[in-house]
Amino acid sequence: MTAGLLASEQLMKFSDIIDTALTQQRELLHAPDKRKSDKPLRSFSVREVSHALRVKYNSLRQYLNTLPGMPAGTTEPGNRKYFTADEVNEILSVLYAEGKIGDERMPRRKPGDAQARLVVYNLKGGVSKTSLSVNLAQFLALRGYRILCIDLDPQASFSDMFDVQADLDGLPSVYDVLRYEDDSGGPVPITEAIRATYVPNIDLVPGSMSMTEFEYETSASFRGGGDGTPFHRRITDALELVDDYYDLVLFDTPPHMSFAVIAAVYAATGMLIPLSAGMLDVVSLAKFLELAAGTMEVVEQHQDKRYDFIRFVLTRYSASDPAQLQLSSFLRSHLGPAMLRNDMVSSTAIADAGNTMNPLLELDPSSFHRKTYDRIFESLCGIADEVDAEIMQSWGREPFERESR
Ligand SMILES: Nc1ncnc2c1ncn2[C@@H]1O[C@H](COP(=O)(O)OP(=O)(O)OP(=O)(O)O)[C@@H](O)[C@H]1O
Ligand SMILES: [Mg+2]
Repeated sequence: MTAGLLASEQLMKFSDIIDTALTQQRELLHAPDKRKSDKPLRSFSVREVSHALRVKYNSLRQYLNTLPGMPAGTTEPGNRKYFTADEVNEILSVLYAEGKIGDERMPRRKPGDAQARLVVYNLKGGVSKTSLSVNLAQFLALRGYRILCIDLDPQASFSDMFDVQADLDGLPSVYDVLRYEDDSGGPVPITEAIRATYVPNIDLVPGSMSMTEFEYETSASFRGGGDGTPFHRRITDALELVDDYYDLVLFDTPPHMSFAVIAAVYAATGMLIPLSAGMLDVVSLAKFLELAAGTMEVVEQHQDKRYDFIRFVLTRYSASDPAQLQLSSFLRSHLGPAMLRNDMVSSTAIADAGNTMNPLLELDPSSFHRKTYDRIFESLCGIADEVDAEIMQSWGREPFERESR
């Protein structure tokens, strides 16, 4: 259908075809009566709440019945109680107020605690950066963290997962926050680009294709353009305005080096490096780390940078695959405690989430085999526990050790 055209015209034609098809698809998917963000997040069983808040199941049931101010929840057939994410947060507040849990399980900053800023970082494509970020954000939000997510990938898949589409809906994006002042305008305060999501405790600065502009503008700033604020400080400076509002800022990054990524690395206080369990991934990891070290050196020319933590997490891990098992023990023997103890298991449910845009906490557990659901839930919850412990430690608190159920 494109024969006879110049190669550039052929490619452009294909681009137009896909673009139009995607726009139609999106309009269908996001028609006003179909948007998933119009529906609230599902409710959670007492067992899920007990696991998320790390309170023993029987104790939680007793607290729910006896402590004043506990939300009533909704009773569903079978006499089971379910709680919305907002109610889970109310439960957390009552447990804390009544002294049933201490500071180690109350993820709120106190005066003097620095905002935790976590960058999920690996220049390799497809290693689960976005899937991990989305699920981690949801698990941490459910246990009380007030989170601001910042999507730095021009492909904006993280924002898609939360049904916030800056380009489609004409909303300000992270580009508008980071952009340079020029004849066409200037940066907007981050508060103008922050969108609440349908998940309580999660706000988002959406990604956008125009982030590529930021790269051009930054290059131009080296030749004397720009508005004076160097590129690496632009995220840090923008965040000042919301420093009091969030306990955690989470960055999802693109699989390529960019000035925006360097600015996130500069703003971050901790780093999580997802790594899929293939030998080629491990080979490229060494190169990536060398490059990341080089990036850090650039950042350190401006200011010494000390992270609270840098941890690796194995993603799409399947312990039943002998090659992966071997690779996992190889990595653990060399990287030791820098590797998270919990792996992100490989699962079609997580893969499907990428297609259906539904992270685990949005799926209906009854549509799975119970064991399958528990395996994924425990994998993601375990990762959240370890990241939580790192943040708590950065706030000088004793991390909470989960007792087995
Ligand atoms: N634990 C998992 N089990 C099975 N499939 C997974 C898992 N994690 C991610 N996937 C799938 O792998 C693909 C890549 O995942 P994802 O988009 O999260 O990676 P990424 O590192 O963000 O990619 P990119 O580098 O393009 O941003 C997606 O199709 C996703 O659904
Ligand atoms: Mg991604």
